[in-house]
Amino acid sequence: MTQSVDSEVFSVYLKEGTHAIHDQLDRRVMQLNPFADNAHYQGFLRMQLRLHSAGEQVYHNQQINNLIPEIEQRSRLNAVLQDCADLAIPIELQQHDQQLGQLFKITDPYAGLGWLYTIEGSTLGAAMLLKHVKNSLGLSETYGARHMAAHSDGRATHWREFKAILDSLTLNDLQRKQALDAAKQAFYFVTETVDEIMVTGKKEVAG
Ligand code: HEM
Repeated sequence: MTQSVDSEVFSVYLKEGTHAIHDQLDRRVMQLNPFADNAHYQGFLRMQLRLHSAGEQVYHNQQINNLIPEIEQRSRLNAVLQDCADLAIPIELQQHDQQLGQLFKITDPYAGLGWLYTIEGSTLGAAMLLKHVKNSLGLSETYGARHMAAHSDGRATHWREFKAILDSLTLNDLQRKQALDAAKQAFYFVTETVDEIMVTGKKEVAG
């Protein structure tokens, strides 16, 4: 395997490569007032459902599990589904969102690493989002906002450990690029979803 000639640490490379789109995404999401009421929050949850449905295959990929032990147990898809049930999102909409997410076929392990970076990283921002959800909607880690719960080791510890594994991998430049492209793909998918569901979601879900 060719060693990377790019000396930037892998997790920093991913962070820098996705910084602009993350920035744009979180400003857009907050602009749409996702915690204004249950109908707005339903749109937010559906966005999470699409993202986690797309990423789920990566959590069960054997090659990825060989690289990142126990990643299978970190999947938050079931928590998102329970949140959707708590918020009474109609089952047809949930199925539609899952099907759309599942259209992604992420078979390349380096692409898988990129998707994982984006999904696992989203637990960091969730610390702040959880406060809003609790204050505005009265939801919690055990009802409606289960997918935002911190890992039992704590968010920061889990993220540090995850990044340490990423940074210990020996990847060549092409593999790093494949991972970055996939991390961006996950962000773009979410951004498109936000514009599709969170702008019109209120009408669609409540109407
Ligand atoms: C309104 C929505 C969001 C807000 C306000 C937000 C906010 C944040 C904040 C404050 C951090 C840094 C936390 C820290 O360093 O302790 C962070 C990290 C991150 N978020 Fe978000 N986020 C949002 C949505 C998302 C979504 C939907 C995704 C995935 C598609 C995502 C992916 C990430 C990633 C990958 C990181 C880790 C960056 C790194 O340090 O490498 N975020 N987010």
